[in-house]
This record gives sequence, structure tokens and C-alpha cells, in this order.
Amino acid sequence: MGTLIKNGTIVTAENEFTGDIYLDGETIAKIGKDIVPQDGDEVIDASGKYVLPGGVDQHVHFSFTYKGSKVRGFETSNAAALGGTTTVIEFVNQEKGKGLIETVEDYKKTDADGISMVDYAFHLVMVDPRDEVIDEIPKLAEAGYPTMKLFMAYKGQFFHADDDAILKALQKGKETGVTIMVHAENADMIDVATNQLIAEGKTGPYYHAVSRPTVVEAEATRRAIYLAEMADAPIYIVHVTCREALEEVKAAYSRGQKVFGETCAHYLVLDEQDLNRPGYEGAKYVCSPALRTEEHRNALWEAVDRKQLNAISSDHCGFDYEHQKHMGYGEGKSFADIPNGCPSLQNRLNILWTYGVEEGKISRQRLVDLYATSPAKINGLDKKGQLEVGYDADVVIFDPAYEGVISYETNLEGVDYSPFEGFRQKGRPETVFLRGKKIVDDAKYIGDKGDGKFIKGKPYGAAYRW
Ligand code: URP
Ligand code: ZN
Ligand code: ZN
Repeated sequence: MGTLIKNGTIVTAENEFTGDIYLDGETIAKIGKDIVPQDGDEVIDASGKYVLPGGVDQHVHFSFTYKGSKVRGFETSNAAALGGTTTVIEFVNQEKGKGLIETVEDYKKTDADGISMVDYAFHLVMVDPRDEVIDEIPKLAEAGYPTMKLFMAYKGQFFHADDDAILKALQKGKETGVTIMVHAENADMIDVATNQLIAEGKTGPYYHAVSRPTVVEAEATRRAIYLAEMADAPIYIVHVTCREALEEVKAAYSRGQKVFGETCAHYLVLDEQDLNRPGYEGAKYVCSPALRTEEHRNALWEAVDRKQLNAISSDHCGFDYEHQKHMGYGEGKSFADIPNGCPSLQNRLNILWTYGVEEGKISRQRLVDLYATSPAKINGLDKKGQLEVGYDADVVIFDPAYEGVISYETNLEGVDYSPFEGFRQKGRPETVFLRGKKIVDDAKYIGDKGDGKFIKGKPYGAAYRW
């Protein structure tokens, strides 16, 4: 028994056309016109709707811990499904004393397998750059984890990485096609500014942005690019947020260097003044790098449209407001104690459609590329992110006519706020298939715990090939 989706507008990263798409078991079996159903097939009329590939969110935190406070985990991954994302890639911090592969495989068994409601893959985060660990990097490729991230920011935290670790990772990674990613912010600049602000009594959430201006991101982006040049390896810059960092990426790319990057939905629509909201509301918007101004948002929209950035992720962090974002509140506390990161797993596609496609900033094809196709290619997920025969039957039927308002009360992230609360929403994923199984129907999640499966990534992802 298959599923035939008829008369939808099928959107790929390259084009769009009206047609039918036939899902046979877990796979896309046919795309064309006037496909005839077999006995027992479900037939869905998608007239007036868009048919998109299921999204690939390559920057998700289901295990991130900030100063002892932990985000919601894979038990909330149905929020991804409801938002049209059928594959997530989670960052797993290496545990001190354990190897990279041992860490991720332990985590996978206890926290993802049998729990996740969408398909999943992992990036390793190296926190313990001993020689044996560096030597393990090439083995990630064969084990199905062909990407690794290092945090240039977060001085004093166990996951901060120095330049020597980054350079060695780049050198080792390229031996077998492992793509190295960096969170690019200068940790020392942030540390000095943070201490000075706190000494001056400037402790509220807004000073989070003051402590890490754009120069902090630009400097680290440039440094990461030079480290990659020395290693003669590609590099991927996660969450690019500002014009100055973009200039570094663009300049390196035009010099012929393989420098790739993403931005995230919240950097495209939220403003640093959100950190100044009354009461302690500003804490909801503490994420790193910090939110920017309109000038930077315009530069980001232009960059994603012109293919100068390659993906739009969520950087989802399920910290709640009441108990976790308040960690910076009170005597002796400051913005530096507020857990970094915002929940946005469910609204990535909604934000990109409403504020990107509907406002003419990006085309539907570009949206598909940024939210599904390129992230799959960058991470070596060769059956994901595309509506093509032989690919996984991860499909979204998107209703462009829907009009609503985003609220945490109607989402599944399990967090007590949304940074997009009250945002107008145009269009929504109405039906979602995960490898041929319907997991969202009439915009309601109907799947089961454990529907998601682990997807091995292949090495030499797109950053090696472009
Ligand atoms: O603020 C953020 N982005 N938190 C999550 C960890 C990271 O830096 O990506
Ligand atoms: Zn980061
Ligand atoms: Zn992140």
C-alpha cells in the first residue's frame, strides 16, 4: 500500500511544477503527471498546496547543558515534525575521559534510539583534544558521524576549544572527509567585556549583546578561516549573524577557499532590542552570538538569497523561561548566568515562509534548498532533503492559505515560551510523511515515539565538493 499525492505544486531546490508524487513504503517511487493509484493506496488531493521535501535541521540541541541547566531532549522531537522537519542533527559534547565515538554511541542508545519522532544524525563536539582523541577524528567518517564542531566561544566552560585544537581537527578531519564546524566568537573578548560590564553593575539581559558585539564574531570567523587555510581543509561556520562575519565568509570564498556557513531563523527576524524587553523578558532572547539589528538582518537575507550562506537552521535550545532563563536574575547574578539558546525547532519553516517567501526575500526554491536540500548534502545524508525518485519519502504538504499566530501554547517544544510569540504566520505544514509514514495530519502530530531512526552520514559532504 502506497500513498499518491496528486496535483500539488512540487517544489525542489531547482524548480517547481504541478504533478503527482508516489510514496511506496519508505521511498519516493514516482514523480510525474497522472500517476494511477494501485488498489489500497491512499490518494491525497494536494491541489492548491505545495509539496516540499521534509526539512533537515542540521543545528539542534537536545543535550546542551549550560552551567548545569539542560535543554529538553528528543522526547520533544515531535515539534520538529509538526514544523515540517523530518531529520534533525544533534550536537553531542564529548564526555571527558571518553572517546568521541563511544560518547555519541552511548548517548544515542540512552537518549535518542526508540525516543526520537523524526530521523536523526549527530555531530560530535570535541571537548578533550588529547592526542588519542585527535587521532580518532578520521574514524568518525566510517562510523557515520562525518561532522565535528568546536566552540571558539564560552571561555571557562568545558566545551571551549583553543586554536590548536581547531587546527589539529581541521588537519585530521580532511584525511577522511570529516567536515569541521565552528561556533565563531572570540572567547577572550567576550570574557573581558563581560567582567567589565558586571563590575559596572550592567547585569541585565541586554548586556549579553553588549558583551559580544559583531567584531567578536568577525574576528573569530576570520581566524577560523585562516586556520582552515593553513590546514587546506574546508570549514563550516555555524550561526553567522552579522554583516562583518559574512564579509569574511564571502572574501574567503572568492579567494577560492571552501568556506561554508549557515544562519538561523531567529537571526533573520528578531532584534537585539528584544533583549531589552520589560521585566526579565529579555532573558528569553539570550542566545549566542547575540541578536543583531535590521542592518544585519538585511545582509543575512541577501546572503541566503545569493547562496553566500548555505543553510538555515534552528539552533534549537529548549530552555524554559521560568526556571532556566531566570538563572541570571537576582543578587550576584548577571546575563552571563542565563542559559544561551532559544527554542525554535517547530517554527523554522513557518518563519522562513512567512517572512522570507511571502515577503519576497527568498524564492520557494531557495527556501527548499536552505531548509532541506543543502543541509542534507553538507552532512552527507544522501537520501534526505530532496523530492527525487529513490530518496526517502520525507514529504511535507504545505497549505499556503493558512493564517495564524505563533504561540508556545500551541506548539510541542515543551518549553514555556517561544521567542516568536505573537508573530503572524502565513501557511503551515498540513501533512507530513516520515519515510512514507504519515506523522502529521491536518496540522496535528499523529506519529509515535520511536518513529525516527538513526541515519548514518557519509564523509566528504558538500563543503568538500563545492
Ligand atoms: O546560544 C546558543 N547558540 N546556544 C546553543 C549552543 C551554541 O552556541 O550553539
Ligand atoms: Zn553556537
Ligand atoms: Zn548551537
